[in-house]
Amino acid sequence: MLLDKLMIEEVSVMTRKIALITGGGDCPGINAFLASAVRRGVKEYGAEFVGVKNAFAGLASKDIEQNLVPLDWERVVGLENQSSTILESSRFNPFSPENEAAGYPEAIINNLRKLGISGVVGTGGNDTILSASRLERRGFPTTMAPKSIDNDVSGTDVMLGFRTAISFGAQAARSTADSARAHRRISIVEVMGRQAGWLALEIGVASGADLITIPERPVDLQELCSEVDKIYRERGYANLVVAEGTSISYDDPVLQKTLKESDVVRALLEETPEKDAFGNPKLGGISQILRRVLRLELGLKKIEEIRTTDLGFTLRGLKPLADDIILGVRFGIRAVDLLLGEGRSGYMVGNHGLEVREVPYQTALQPKTVNREDRELEALGVFISSTGVGAVTK
Ligand code: F6P
Repeated sequence: MLLDKLMIEEVSVMTRKIALITGGGDCPGINAFLASAVRRGVKEYGAEFVGVKNAFAGLASKDIEQNLVPLDWERVVGLENQSSTILESSRFNPFSPENEAAGYPEAIINNLRKLGISGVVGTGGNDTILSASRLERRGFPTTMAPKSIDNDVSGTDVMLGFRTAISFGAQAARSTADSARAHRRISIVEVMGRQAGWLALEIGVASGADLITIPERPVDLQELCSEVDKIYRERGYANLVVAEGTSISYDDPVLQKTLKESDVVRALLEETPEKDAFGNPKLGGISQILRRVLRLELGLKKIEEIRTTDLGFTLRGLKPLADDIILGVRFGIRAVDLLLGEGRSGYMVGNHGLEVREVPYQTALQPKTVNREDRELEALGVFISSTGVGAVTK
């Protein structure tokens, strides 16, 4: 009896075919995860892996075969330190009301069954993990690893890609700061991060920024300009690191004044930010607005006295540092062990101190914004308005 059970178990494991996906924004370390998952699954469980390009868009595709990338031991040799993701990506949301009504979730499950896939393992940010949790709820096993330069998902100390983004971003911001000092300029470095200020906070601190703005602390422009003016007068230069999601009230009097004076700011604010499939507004351009605001408020003769650098996607396509390769490898092992070794799905893997643990999706889906006290944030250089204005993001 026991032998029969073991045989069935063995056979079921031996026929295990796993689909790998990488959804949402790319980042360093994703390929290390893929390589590790394949190696662990092949070596430990005799599993077979197939990459599906473009994440949930690929899974839902009418012609899924076009999106398949066979992944075996040989194919993943040396993959660890490659940038971005070999499986490309998408922000396709199969569970949006219109896509659910169009039958995309059923199309995904039918595709997976047709291919003999018994589980989906992948990397994602909050939105892709949400889709994986909904596929799980439909009865299809999924296990995910958190990745994003935003570092804005709960249940893990750090997301894949964040450490490499900080390291490179800090070097880049330090470089612009050194140049601004030599040319007696104001430098504004913009970084992404959506509604979380982790990127701006850590890049700002590591690059010695004079002032950092984050979405979690809305900005009163009059106070910000006074602060910058004071630094600029005292030192002859000033370095700012600003998060793309920095909140400025549309009714801020200084913004309203700038809108009257600057065609560029008017044009930027009139560009209605399109939203992605999960309703996230496309951000970016805050440094251009602040450049005009500061020039006007500080009465600078030439706009060249203020220079902006938007690090944007340079932080996404980096080759991973060792930290992110190691984290990706550890996440890949744990994700595959959970699904194939323990038969458990519906979890995100996350790191907690020195450990890598599984976290239920519902925990993972709580956003993780900067939750430090004002006292520490101010000491780190974060600009905090005395008025604590309510934010209507740009
Ligand atoms: O989620 C990662 C991220 O880089 C955010 O910081 C940024 O706002 C967003 O992706 C940009 O999205 P996209 O790559 O779709 O333009």
